[in-house]
Amino acid sequence: MLVPELASAPNWLPIHITIDGTPLKMITKTTDNMLPPAGILFGYERTLHLDTGILERSVLFRAASGNVVRIAFQRFASLHDVHVLCQRVTITAIDGDPQIQVKAFLDGNSLNITADHWRVEQAEVLATDEEIGISAATRQSGYTLGMAARLSSPYPITSSKHGLRPQFETSFTLPFQQAASFDKITAIYTSRDTDGSPLAAARAKARQAMAEGFDQLAERHIAEWDKYWDTADIQIVGDDACQLATRFTTYHVLIAAPRHDKNVSIPAKTLSGFGYKGHVFWDTELFTLPPMTLTQPEIARNLLLYRYHRLPGARHKAAANGYEGAMFPWESTDTGEETTPQWSDVQPDGSRIRIWTGDHEQHISTDIAYAVHQFWRWTGDHAFMAQYGAEIILDTAKFWGSRAEPKGDRYEISQQIGPDEYHENIDNSVFVNRMVVWHLETALQTLEWLQANAPADAARLTAALDLTPTRLDHWRDVIQRMFIPFDSEKQIHVQFPGFFEMEYIPTEKYQPRITSVQAILGHYRTIQTQVIKQADVVMLMALLGKTIGTPDGSNVEQVMQNNWDTYFPRCDHGSSLSPAMHAWVAARMGMTATAYDQFDHAAHIDLMDNKGNVRDGIHAAACGGVWQALVFGFGGLHFDESGEPALAPKLPDHWRSLSFTVNYRGEKRRFTAEHPR
Ligand code: BGC
Repeated sequence: MLVPELASAPNWLPIHITIDGTPLKMITKTTDNMLPPAGILFGYERTLHLDTGILERSVLFRAASGNVVRIAFQRFASLHDVHVLCQRVTITAIDGDPQIQVKAFLDGNSLNITADHWRVEQAEVLATDEEIGISAATRQSGYTLGMAARLSSPYPITSSKHGLRPQFETSFTLPFQQAASFDKITAIYTSRDTDGSPLAAARAKARQAMAEGFDQLAERHIAEWDKYWDTADIQIVGDDACQLATRFTTYHVLIAAPRHDKNVSIPAKTLSGFGYKGHVFWDTELFTLPPMTLTQPEIARNLLLYRYHRLPGARHKAAANGYEGAMFPWESTDTGEETTPQWSDVQPDGSRIRIWTGDHEQHISTDIAYAVHQFWRWTGDHAFMAQYGAEIILDTAKFWGSRAEPKGDRYEISQQIGPDEYHENIDNSVFVNRMVVWHLETALQTLEWLQANAPADAARLTAALDLTPTRLDHWRDVIQRMFIPFDSEKQIHVQFPGFFEMEYIPTEKYQPRITSVQAILGHYRTIQTQVIKQADVVMLMALLGKTIGTPDGSNVEQVMQNNWDTYFPRCDHGSSLSPAMHAWVAARMGMTATAYDQFDHAAHIDLMDNKGNVRDGIHAAACGGVWQALVFGFGGLHFDESGEPALAPKLPDHWRSLSFTVNYRGEKRRFTAEHPR
């Protein structure tokens, strides 16, 4: 049995071009193994248009014959029709009249890094002069995928099959200074999209899309992007680099988000890399979902429905562990069962490290409840809450009710992993215990709201989830008596009892570095130190703000400052999720210079590859975190005393203004924060 992962689809992109027999290769000087014949690439430009989602590349290339061509590529995956993928190639004869050969194909040999998920022996490959296609099913889950493509060319086209590679070919002589364009339109369907044959659906769609033509397809695609940016764009005046980085991160959140499907979510590395096997973590609910909730509520709803439809898996996990209710898996895929691998990949010394997050990183259930509640507050989508959201909040609360352990006069929660994953299997994580209190309070309020506003749903859920008065009293008791680790002398929340007894490592001395401090000290040493992987107590401050509270209810602002002064220097930001959360909290607390440093780092994680691992894929959570740092942090968007959204801006000194639009209960609200000068 393989760990489930997203299977790489056949590659729809390949278009191979030869000029007078010289293959176009992205190589600027000839090497022995390229001869004969060899060509030279004189220039290469690549532009990703974030406003339209179109990628353009252009090259100037001289063939071994001496003839020179310019080749321009354009491509996009349609935002208007998720099944349609478009490419255009324009070749211009700059010098000479070259003989051109174009091979455009679909490549079924594209595999994931560690596994081949396709039953290739049963693949269907199709090639006529009109269309090419490929279809295969995945080995483990049995999903079928069908892909079909068409090519338009001013010259005759032939086709052929090469194993799993159906191919078009067209050859011609391009007269001096003339240009020729080719459009390849590909369509893709899976058995999740159609009751019939995915290949048949893809063939029909490719035919229809080719009839519409590249230009019209592009027009509709761009119109969708315009709609998106209309609400999603954040404008920063006074900082071009952060403006660009913000658009880049916002772009990546959107292209990963399911617009058409209520049964998929956003993987930790989006769809852009094999990192984390395409699994879904808390990254979605607490990092990428909030921008969707506030700007694209229909997409946010889809993302929450993905979790709703996986309640059976969560109930199964709770029962298998001896608990009640629903306990969501730390890593989730299509089934809703726990899919966290138990062991790491092989380490440099040949060993493997036990991964405990699937067993003990249980705060995911509360993170999902938090996202449901946030969605409801912003959208006012009461129907969603009554039909779906409340069930998630209540059944996960039921899990915590059974999970909290009575110990003496208080409740404790042992064997947890908080956001700071360097410290595993600890007792009484302040993040976990405090969020559980929030969760149970929210569950009781949700039930009261249901009873007043949707009594039939209240009755249905009370019966189905067995929400007896005794159970609800138990939740109230847990709220009252949960142990929240706090040091009264230092006036700080304690990440977990025993934390400060471990070795102190001054993380600021480990500079410069792009890796974590853990990568320097090693796994086993790090877990015995006070090095924190990512915002943990700071994350709690981001989520709860001043409602984090203190034992006697006083001094919250000072305690938050003390928390910051304690935990920020101990954090190595070993996770890309960390800097944006620090930026958010630091901005709220008025430390705008520190907030800016953290923000600038977060915003450039992928664009500048400043964690050195962008090859594994885009860091979705960091992208969503950037949006939140801007809107909730620097913009200070919050609900005021009358329950209306309001700003409390704290802008970095060099920003002149920050503007954004959010949806509040079906209405668009535009906010601008100007720097006080
Ligand atoms: C982080 C987790 C995160 C996961 C996936 C880990 O390194 O510590 O918080 O969910 O990566 O992005």
